[in-house]
Amino acid sequence: MKPTVKRILFVCLGNICRSPAAEGVFRSLAREAGLEVEADSAGTSGWHVGEAPHAPMQRAARARGHDLSALRARQFRAADFEEFDLIIGMDADNIADMERLRPPGNATPVRLFTDYAPQAGADHVPDPYYTGAYDAALDLIEAAARGLVAELAR
Ligand code: 4NP
Repeated sequence: MKPTVKRILFVCLGNICRSPAAEGVFRSLAREAGLEVEADSAGTSGWHVGEAPHAPMQRAARARGHDLSALRARQFRAADFEEFDLIIGMDADNIADMERLRPPGNATPVRLFTDYAPQAGADHVPDPYYTGAYDAALDLIEAAARGLVAELAR
């Protein structure tokens, strides 16, 4: 039997573009699906701690009905491995950076978000902070969030 997933953490580098969008989109879709799952997000860097999501990402998300305005960036920490049932990174660097902090004996699953949207053919969520491609990132984030919700609902 699958272990019950109650708390999910989404992780990127800055926690101001991809992972807060993933948190907000996932929350919307989980609520629509009637799933009782808590979501949070964090960045592997501490560069933007305390900041709201980057304004262009907030605007792009709001245009799709996702309000990210209340979210604030925080840094990923080793204790997150103990406090979440599933941790999801946006790219391979996020996962490598987290794995360096994994406490001995901890077995919390860490996955790539794009694994939940195999039909998209992407192996990471490209960082729109550098490319400006906020809508393309949201397309991928929405597809992966739908896949994740479907898996949790099974
Ligand atoms: P994120 O994007 O990891 O999706 O939040 C970034 C935001 C800011 C920076 C890098 C990535 N930065 O270098 O400040």
